[in-house]
Amino acid sequence: MNTATLAEALFVEAPRKAPRRDWTPINYDLRDTWFPVSHSRDVSERPIRRIIHAQLYFLWRQHGRPMAAEFRPDQLERLRPQASAFTGGSGMYPVVERYGYLWVWYGNPEHADARMIPHIPFLPLDGSLPGYTQRTVRFDATSALSVENLIDLTHADFLHANTIGDGISDSDVVEVEWTSETVTRTRTVTQKSVAPIMRWVGGVRAKFQDFRAVLHVHLRSNVCISYPRFRPGYDVPNLQPFLPVGKHRSRGDVTFNTTAAPAPFRYVMPRIAYVIQPQDNSVVRPQNPCYFEPGDRPDLHSRFDTPGTRYRFQMEQLAARQSRGEMAYGTDADPERDISVLLGMKD
Ligand SMILES: [Fe+2]
Repeated sequence: MNTATLAEALFVEAPRKAPRRDWTPINYDLRDTWFPVSHSRDVSERPIRRIIHAQLYFLWRQHGRPMAAEFRPDQLERLRPQASAFTGGSGMYPVVERYGYLWVWYGNPEHADARMIPHIPFLPLDGSLPGYTQRTVRFDATSALSVENLIDLTHADFLHANTIGDGISDSDVVEVEWTSETVTRTRTVTQKSVAPIMRWVGGVRAKFQDFRAVLHVHLRSNVCISYPRFRPGYDVPNLQPFLPVGKHRSRGDVTFNTTAAPAPFRYVMPRIAYVIQPQDNSVVRPQNPCYFEPGDRPDLHSRFDTPGTRYRFQMEQLAARQSRGEMAYGTDADPERDISVLLGMKD
């Protein structure tokens, strides 16, 4: 784990380099990674279509087995000669079913290795969760911008105050750590106003609660593994993958594993994705087009938003490595390492 402080990275190294340009989240097309491209339950014998950047993925089941191809199954034989390097000319993508998702490989298929699928300790390997835990949301913004919004959790205090709670607390500490492939943000709040949703449907009678939220972001795939814990209250472990559909669109097949919480909170919490998503979208949608028109308009991002700044920096580093043709994962990166302690699931 890199322990250098952000200040060192920015202020010690910076004078030797050209002035930093504004961040442009639309430029990331990172390869050699698994994307959770669809909920398992959405894939049947009948093919469905997904898009990762400009690449088409058709998904279906054959005798129950998941399949992923560049073309519709009925056109596969005829179009196979046109197959791209993404499938090594075979037309078929590497595909693995795990955690209730179909994971497809985006990149050189010779590099595909199931050990590169992230560890998600709160989702059963076989995906056996009830349907109420799963939702699909869409953002009118590129994936990196959607992730950046999620990393800056303080936005929730005003944007989602009506569900998650306001900014009143005794103390509020935000920390960040990272590898060459991940960024982890931890926010620890003591005596925060109780989240309204826990008061309404969660039976939490206290006025204040302690809150700890860990967000573990896989940079190549925009897979966000989120573990908020409320005391008194409940854990709301959730997976938010931001599929890079295009420069103006990302898709999130999300899972909220609230099965350990009491009813009706267990059922209501996953549904508030439909309340929260339009609130987030109202923020990212108008921002996104600004990145297409490089002009004099300054990027108003705060340099004091340490996790967000670190996310931008790590993304730039990874993109620079890939532009030099370095596709391999760094020695500090191990996507399948056990992250249950990192997430705070075990005290
Ligand atoms: Fe949000």
